[in-house]
Amino acid sequence: MREEAHKPPELFEVLRSFGLGDDDLRAWLHSALPAEAFDEWLTDRVARRPTGARAREAYGAGDVHDFARRAILDALALGPGDRLLEIGCGGGLLLREALDRAAQATGLDHSEEMTRLARERAPGAEVVLASAEQLPFGDRAFTAVAMSVVFFLLPDPVTVLSECRRVLANDGRLAVYTTGPELRGTPAAPEPIASRGHFYDDHALSELAHKSGFVEVDVVNDSGGQLLTARRAGQLTA
Ligand SMILES: C[S@@+](CC[C@H](N)C(=O)[O-])C[C@H]1O[C@@H](n2cnc3c(N)ncnc32)[C@H](O)[C@@H]1O
Repeated sequence: MREEAHKPPELFEVLRSFGLGDDDLRAWLHSALPAEAFDEWLTDRVARRPTGARAREAYGAGDVHDFARRAILDALALGPGDRLLEIGCGGGLLLREALDRAAQATGLDHSEEMTRLARERAPGAEVVLASAEQLPFGDRAFTAVAMSVVFFLLPDPVTVLSECRRVLANDGRLAVYTTGPELRGTPAAPEPIASRGHFYDDHALSELAHKSGFVEVDVVNDSGGQLLTARRAGQLTA
């Protein structure tokens, strides 16, 4: 992605490479932002705060980030009695699967369009428009917290993980699926989004969880896809 001003035909090519179309081009032109703001705008539109028809289509598709959802669901082993919070819930597909497992499900996202989509795709889940950095829930409200392909977008991971710990009950489980530095600049984390993302090697990722007060921290790395799991300590060690 070049830094200089883009002309509309060239812009269209960049947008198309991310699966975006005419309405996205119109939204960019309508924004009247300077050309230097394009990469930030694109990162928001595609991933950081998805907006527009193509974003709704992408994040509502049944197979979007299936690999991450499977890994999280296997790790959390949700069942009746569980109360799941998904942060950055996007189109709500993980929430829907949590409901299928008879768990209660709450989704949170700071994109208004994604919260609307999640309510449509996961009727029965509570979906809240809010920010990961300040969770609008009481202490120990959930038995499990998940994040799927969100963590690399967070500028302040310790604040978010500390909030996750706060809202987890004793022995509550955390599962975070994110992208390791080895995938930076590949189709899994393409530019210009990669340069606006936050990537951690496996050790650094574990350290973030320890620093946020979690125990039983583990990172499994499958060809650059990282699954971080951890637990809030039980009553005797909390
Ligand atoms: C790449 S999408 C992933 C969506 C979904 N979890 C999935 O796996 O398909 C990232 C989602 O996280 C949300 N998000 C990013 N940063 C956030 C923040 N600080 N607070 C709340 N939501 C956030 C975005 O709005 C977007 O819906």
